[in-house]
Amino acid sequence: MIPSGFFPDNVTYHFSSQQMGPEALSENELAVAQKYGAKRFADFCTGRYCLRKSIAPYNFTGDILIGDRGMPLLPDHITASLSHSKKLCGAVASLKQNNISLGIDIETNGRVHEEMWRLLFTPKETAYLSAQNKVNSDLLSTVFFSMKEAYYKMQFPLTGVYLDFPEVEIEHTDGFFVVTLLKDVNDRFPKHKQTSGHMLKLGNEIITYCALTP
Ligand SMILES: CC(C)(COP(=O)(O)OP(=O)(O)OC[C@H]1O[C@@H](n2cnc3c(N)ncnc32)[C@H](O)[C@@H]1OP(=O)(O)O)[C@@H](O)C(=O)NCCC(=O)NCCS
Repeated sequence: MIPSGFFPDNVTYHFSSQQMGPEALSENELAVAQKYGAKRFADFCTGRYCLRKSIAPYNFTGDILIGDRGMPLLPDHITASLSHSKKLCGAVASLKQNNISLGIDIETNGRVHEEMWRLLFTPKETAYLSAQNKVNSDLLSTVFFSMKEAYYKMQFPLTGVYLDFPEVEIEHTDGFFVVTLLKDVNDRFPKHKQTSGHMLKLGNEIITYCALTP
């Protein structure tokens, strides 16, 4: 399903378009999920299934509970990230010696409507999106939104800082994406830090991915 070469060789991943049930959860994860509604429960089960498959090579089979502001709690030697859309769930993982942190997001194309742009995008991004035809602006607004969420999930476990959407800016040139941080977060994430963003379109689902490498 994922073309080889999209993720680097030192990143393992697992995607599923099939929903998993409670058998995917450990006893402690099930206890956390008891209070969830049906959709959240199904997402949590499928997410933990994909996460466990993605970290399988790294010698860890324990609980993956929920940490500060929703981040998955993993052992110190592993970084991983996961996302669910209505149709697809996926997780990426790596040893931290190869990737300090990973972030992934999945969105369905066309769900970022123009009325939402002012909350999500900087003036420069808005100008870029406004100059596109409708098909491209639907696609790129979804990609920009999703890439910001992937970036957020990548940086949060390292910084503990909430970032609002206009605090990062995406640039798109010749098929390449660069994410620029517009505020000082810490020494590792200074203002103007640039990180590559990656995008894959699978049917109507958009997968975005960011990594912080050593
Ligand atoms: C946290 C957030 C990014 C999750 O995205 P989403 O589209 O709602 O949901 P997704 O299915 O894509 O991702 C959910 C998974 O993200 C992970 N996640 C949640 N909070 C996280 C955090 N603070 N740090 C890292 N990963 C996190 C979890 O693994 C979660 O799945 P789980 O609860 O089943 O374990 C989003 O809800 C949010 O709060 N965004 C606001 C901040 C932001 O994106 N800023 C952008 C500018 S940088």
